[in-house]
Amino acid sequence: EGAPLIDTFGRAITYLRLSVTDRCDLRCTYCMPERMTFLPKREVLSLEELYDLATGFIARGVTKLRITGGEPLVRRDIIDLFTALGRHLEGGGLKELTLTTNATQLAGHAQGLYKAGVRRVNISLDTLDRARFAELTRRDALPQVLDGIRAAKDAGLRVKLNAVALKGVNEDELPDLIAWAHGEACEVTLIEVMPLGDVEEERLDQYLPLSDVRARLEERWTLTDNGANTGGPARYVDVAETGGRLGLITPHTNNFCDGCNRLRVTATGQLYPCLGGGERVDLRAALRSDDPQGQLAAALDKTMLIKPERHHFRMDERGAAPHLPRHMSMTGG
Ligand code: GTP
Ligand code: 5AD
Ligand code: SF4
Repeated sequence: EGAPLIDTFGRAITYLRLSVTDRCDLRCTYCMPERMTFLPKREVLSLEELYDLATGFIARGVTKLRITGGEPLVRRDIIDLFTALGRHLEGGGLKELTLTTNATQLAGHAQGLYKAGVRRVNISLDTLDRARFAELTRRDALPQVLDGIRAAKDAGLRVKLNAVALKGVNEDELPDLIAWAHGEACEVTLIEVMPLGDVEEERLDQYLPLSDVRARLEERWTLTDNGANTGGPARYVDVAETGGRLGLITPHTNNFCDGCNRLRVTATGQLYPCLGGGERVDLRAALRSDDPQGQLAAALDKTMLIKPERHHFRMDERGAAPHLPRHMSMTGG
């Protein structure tokens, strides 16, 4: 077992977000353009390489592994990877294996995921209105998503919904979305849009500060700060009237970087020490070298020296944030 991963700010890295594909079957307007250029498949790590990579991180103290994309469930044979990784839950160092998905294909995979050891999934859902969903994601797939959510719950998976708050798009609907989710015994987290990659709209036009959303929710409900910290960027409030929990991710108005515990790796094995950019580390080169173990260890040691203290994007009334060239679908958040 290697040394634990601790960066120069004393933060222990225990959470890896591993993207298994940059592809997606939806085209959310805040995430990517309609004509998105995807990577040639040969650039992407094989399932074996993804397994070896994750195993290397677990040996260095990662206890939480989230599979992301793009949309992870569009990758062929992805359940095989979950099944293999799930073995690290049994007495290995791994405590949680999970994924973030758009749920279009979840109905067919929910039981396989549960069997592999997944107990919780995060599902992206920004609206419950079919026409609006079709406009927002550029695909008419709300029925499949709702089937996916149902199947996940039937399979015994806990479901958390992620909704990106978008000015003039789903703004009016957020209370109903929260009420629906809580009625379905799902948690919900609201997310402020982040300036990752070019899309066809102006970022500042999409941006809705969650402080505004919260103020409006408080006209209707009683919200109490819950103090919970799941090790993620969300801060939580309890909603008295629904009995549910609401997460708020406010990268622009609130800095959660102090307690950052995570790294992210793209489907091509590029490690980004921070969502907000910075120098990346090529783990694919390490994996494909003649000393994969040694090279991987060295790459991780280097990462600990260069992980930045915080991200620098910000998007408020005073000005647009610096724009990052990379789409969220590269790093899966
Ligand atoms: P939990 O395990 O449920 O706490 O999940 P999570 O919030 O870490 O993961 P999820 O994939 O559901 O991500 C929710 C949102 O948080 C996505 O929009 C991510 O892009 C965003 N996010 C995840 N990690 C970071 C981060 O390090 N910085 C910022 N700014 N946003 C992040
Ligand atoms: N800003 C904020 N959230 C985004 N997501 C995708 N692109 C962006 C963006 N530019 C969200 C998705 C999903 C999560 C992984 O990231 O809706 O819930
Ligand atoms: Fe696909 Fe998620 Fe991006 Fe939407 S936000 S296009 S579901 S990767």
